[in-house]
Amino acid sequence: MVKQTSSFHALLFVFVFVFLGVAAKGVHCFQEKNYHNLLNLQNIILQWQQQQHQNGELSSCLSQKSRSVKGATILEMKHRAYCSGKVINWNKEQQKLLALDVLHVNYLQSRIKNLHSFNKNGVLDTQIPITSGVKLQTLNYIVTVELGGRQMTLIVDTGSDLTWVQCQPCKLCYNQQDPLFNPSMSPSYKQILCNSSTCKSLEIATGNSGLCGGNPPTCNYYVSYGDGSYTRGELARENLNLGTIPVNNFVFGCGRNNHGLFGGASGLLGLGRSDISVVSQTSSIFGGVFSYCLPSMEAGASGSLVLGGNYSVYRNSTPFSYTRMIPNPQLTTFYFLNLTSISIGGVQLQVPGFGKFPGILIDSGTVISRLPPGIYRALKAEFSKQFSGYPSAPGYSILETCYNLSSYQEVNVPIMKFQFEGNSAMHVDVRGMFYFVKSDASQVCLALASLSFEDEIGIIGNYQQRNQRIVYDIKESKVGFAGETCSSM
Ligand SMILES: *[C@@H]1O[C@H](CO)[C@@H](O)[C@H](O)[C@H]1NC(C)=O
Ligand SMILES: *[C@@H]1O[C@H](CO)[C@@H](O)[C@H](O)[C@H]1NC(C)=O
Ligand SMILES: *[C@@H]1O[C@H](CO)[C@@H](O)[C@H](O)[C@H]1NC(C)=O
Ligand SMILES: *[C@@H]1O[C@H](CO)[C@@H](O)[C@H](O)[C@H]1NC(C)=O
Repeated sequence: MVKQTSSFHALLFVFVFVFLGVAAKGVHCFQEKNYHNLLNLQNIILQWQQQQHQNGELSSCLSQKSRSVKGATILEMKHRAYCSGKVINWNKEQQKLLALDVLHVNYLQSRIKNLHSFNKNGVLDTQIPITSGVKLQTLNYIVTVELGGRQMTLIVDTGSDLTWVQCQPCKLCYNQQDPLFNPSMSPSYKQILCNSSTCKSLEIATGNSGLCGGNPPTCNYYVSYGDGSYTRGELARENLNLGTIPVNNFVFGCGRNNHGLFGGASGLLGLGRSDISVVSQTSSIFGGVFSYCLPSMEAGASGSLVLGGNYSVYRNSTPFSYTRMIPNPQLTTFYFLNLTSISIGGVQLQVPGFGKFPGILIDSGTVISRLPPGIYRALKAEFSKQFSGYPSAPGYSILETCYNLSSYQEVNVPIMKFQFEGNSAMHVDVRGMFYFVKSDASQVCLALASLSFEDEIGIIGNYQQRNQRIVYDIKESKVGFAGETCSSM
């Protein structure tokens, strides 16, 4: 009996050893061959159906939470589609968003081209007005801050610098949910004079120099978003609260003439790179560092905008990897990175076209990433090869690589990785791989598009940026990526 037990133990021992060995080997294999992620289609479809029914009841979410901790301010960030209170027809909404995204990218391309031609010819080409409010409809994320003691819900934009709100008395104001900002009620409100250096910095920040008026001459600003939407008003200073952290004498635009579809928000928070942006103005407090986690489309999903760089406040699940921003004296607002390669399911694309000046633009306001035609073709070929076996579907708008996945509960998707100078990489979350043109998954497309010409600027859109922590450090001129499942923290 005793003997039997000990031999049993011996056997158990051997078994455990073998098992551990296999398990260890399994982990090893898993790490080496972890080139796919499971996408649960059933969950996504269910969530959309729930949203369609719930959204009528969500009257408004134009009041995001905020808190300050360890020298950083965390602002809850939501997708504003969920704040309209209207019942959403997802098919229509998704299709409209693509059309708007095309116009937004045309605007960016023309703005960048104009800045180049401004340099060559000394003349700025006139901007083509497109449909009103187009650009701002693709800017989908909102946060709430306090200006002059009043709550303001603002659209977040890394592609512009000046922060502004609609102001009383208003010549032209669109409808907003919060009350209008009233400077005459605020003792801390101060106009900015025309001869100040702050007024002069408008030209770099907005493309339009400050206009002088009144006695003493005060500084007036004008920002055009290139699509027919604009804001015009007085440049001023006011006390801003970001979470509980005060920013005194914050320079902002008091907008007296505002036009566009800003979706009920009070204005815009400019997270660009130039002197007048909120990042630069708060750099003595937050060190010139901000980061975000953009949530995907789940019901009520929220992410966060964090001002300040204390790493202990992030909830990243993988370590950060950093790449430098490519400096460009002509385009001081935008963030350009050096994209050196893309890999799909572990296969690195071997095509020319990576690593070129001025780099690829990382933008929170573009939805679908745009790649130069040569790179896009290689990526499409490699993805189609690896994702073969699924029935294809017709392309839609700018999206060419589409599938009918309506009869699948879940699919195994090759992992896409954007690689940057300095051995830095952005792993695209599985939820950022496909764009659902039809909410029943019968037309699901790879969420990447080709530019028309090789010399246009590539853009990393917000679809591929979801569910990760992206850190912008303008003092050290670098951008970092880490995996994170977004929450309001
Ligand atoms: C970051 O957080 C740590 C730990 O809570 C704290 O000791 C440190 O002072 C913070 N750093 C800054 C710059 O606030
Ligand atoms: C700007 O103009 C005001 C009055 O118009 C004057 O008092 C002030 O000294 C000027 N400031 C500068 C920097 O020139
Ligand atoms: C991008 O990085 C690659 C590899 O380090 C380098 O050869 C190339 O010159 C860089 N491009 C730019 C525009 O800095
Ligand atoms: C998609 O596939 C399903 C199941 O195979 C089929 O019934 C349906 O007609 C297809 N839809 C389209 C739009 O092709």
